[in-house]
Amino acid sequence: MSDQVKMTAMNYDADRPAAENPVKVMDLSFRDGHQSLFATRGRTEDMIPVAEMMDEIGFWALETWGGATFDTMHRFLNEDPWERLRTLKRYVKKTPFSMLLRAQNLVGYRNYADDLATAFVERAAENGMDIFRTFDALNDYRNFETVVKQIKKSGKHFQGCICYSLTEPRLGGDVYDLKYYVDRAKALDDMGADSICIKDMAGMIAPYDAYAIVKAIKEVTKTPVHLHSHFTSGMAQMSHLKAIEAGVDIVDTCMTPYAFRTAHPAIEPLVMALLGTNRDTGFDIKKLAEINEVLEKEVMPKYKHLMDDSKCSIIDINVLLHQTPGGMLSNLVNQLREMDALDKIDQVYKELPIVRKELGQIPLVTPTSQIVGIQTVNNVLFDTPEERYKMITAQVKDLCYGLYGKTAVPIDPEVQKKALKGYPRGEEPITCRPAEVLEPEMEKAKQEIGDLAKDIDDLVIYALYPVTGKKFLEWKYGVTPAPPEVKALTLDEVKKRDELIAKAKAGKLIEPKAATPEKSENVRTFNVFVDGEFFNVEVDPIGDFQPMAAAPRPAAAAAAPKAAPAAAPKAAAPAAAPKAAAPAPAVVEGGTPLMAPMPGMIIKNVVNVGDTVKVGDPVVILEAMKMENSLAAPCDGEVKALNYGTGDSVPKDAVLAVIG
Ligand code: CO
Repeated sequence: MSDQVKMTAMNYDADRPAAENPVKVMDLSFRDGHQSLFATRGRTEDMIPVAEMMDEIGFWALETWGGATFDTMHRFLNEDPWERLRTLKRYVKKTPFSMLLRAQNLVGYRNYADDLATAFVERAAENGMDIFRTFDALNDYRNFETVVKQIKKSGKHFQGCICYSLTEPRLGGDVYDLKYYVDRAKALDDMGADSICIKDMAGMIAPYDAYAIVKAIKEVTKTPVHLHSHFTSGMAQMSHLKAIEAGVDIVDTCMTPYAFRTAHPAIEPLVMALLGTNRDTGFDIKKLAEINEVLEKEVMPKYKHLMDDSKCSIIDINVLLHQTPGGMLSNLVNQLREMDALDKIDQVYKELPIVRKELGQIPLVTPTSQIVGIQTVNNVLFDTPEERYKMITAQVKDLCYGLYGKTAVPIDPEVQKKALKGYPRGEEPITCRPAEVLEPEMEKAKQEIGDLAKDIDDLVIYALYPVTGKKFLEWKYGVTPAPPEVKALTLDEVKKRDELIAKAKAGKLIEPKAATPEKSENVRTFNVFVDGEFFNVEVDPIGDFQPMAAAPRPAAAAAAPKAAPAAAPKAAAPAAAPKAAAPAPAVVEGGTPLMAPMPGMIIKNVVNVGDTVKVGDPVVILEAMKMENSLAAPCDGEVKALNYGTGDSVPKDAVLAVIG
């Protein structure tokens, strides 16, 4: 046993004497846990059954919000993100709430203007947020300035993160060495951080590196140090223990059903491991067990179909091999699969470190992991021997311009020059704090959304997510009906689905049928996999099924939108929603089609029918994997047709426009 951790008493009782210096624990089940395991699909109604019990444990905080939850809730769950905060706060009265804030990116994927950033933090604090775990993907703390000012003004806890990144298998190399982390910690201290978090989003921190970093940071500051890691590579529990030996103040865990795989270490083994030491958590393991029982019975059955059970292994050694976040790799695999190019995965692995280096050796965390990942896929799929970076995403252009901040090392000048050719903000990159060059956004958003935003919270939803946010507000206020796939799954439906799977396994799926009933609007489609075989099963609940209350169906909404409103979940694990690709529209004769090179959602058409365009002019902005791609005219001519509008989901090879 190390010098720092010593046995005090061996007492298993819940009322055992408090340890000298108990390790504090933040629970992540309600945010990063389901974000990591279930594509962020956790619903508020499934947190409520255990919320009060969680409040009794003695957690330092519960992470309940932020990260991808804001996006997923309004886009896929038809839930008002603000409402979750207010609802949970009614059940959790003692334990502070923590959120993951992407600094100037807030809960989105780009830097927002200062007025929006200030409004967002102010509203989050007002709605019940206590601790703002703040990170910047580039570790450029100029992106903290605006949000930190408001966090402090609202009287809340500012936790500053250092995104943990590597270029070598272990700590070291010429960018991310011990000095780098100590320097970043000092910078956070200077900004007035109330705690400092080493944010190991990919689960790459090795136990002895965790020890070295925590120890070195503890030597230069009195500010509490917090370790956030993921289990992905299998090292996190060992890293926790070494960090605890080095004096870490707070660690992150999940309740067992939300733990392991790409999520986090479980709380229960930690409680037992520290029991009777001077770092004993003091938690009552029986109370934790009671929570798990409720979760297993009432909650997990609704989510297990979202879990990636394609492999037996619960760890992903690709993280150790490629130093890239597990979630990013599975996104890449999904993206390649959608584009029928899964055979290119090895090329993607090879190209990835090259692209990352050329883009400034940036840490790989949302959104930079997507930016580097999608650009790599684009390079592998579209580059030719004569030309690299043939299709550069809007986000890479922004990165090259300096809109995300300062990269760890300079961006490759050739790539930068190519990316900024014709860039609307200018071809010369900026060096100032990125938000300095952003126009205020709130007033413009208010003009655009008008009365559909009933209050400031609605307005912020729209300002952050103009396309899907507007759709959500239309569902919320009954302007259009919410599609069936955003509705909650009931335990009853789960039971029916499980019975079907059992039947399929027993070879009894095909039964003599009585008269086939009409399908109702509540029908849900499930992909059921049995021993490598695939069944597409529709489940239509009968009896006292309660449709979601939030979306009344006005008669006017019978006119369905042109394309299926449900985008196939892009960054998601296999989800319940079937792929809702719109049917390819008819091709207009006598023109050259502009086809979708990948499935995605139309952000906007940048030209009108009748406009004259030159080859290479932008015609349509297509969002794929949350990255915007500007699709250029394939030839000179007149825009004869634009087949989709803002918000439409399109399959690969859909004819988006016709130029002739
Ligand atoms: Co995380």
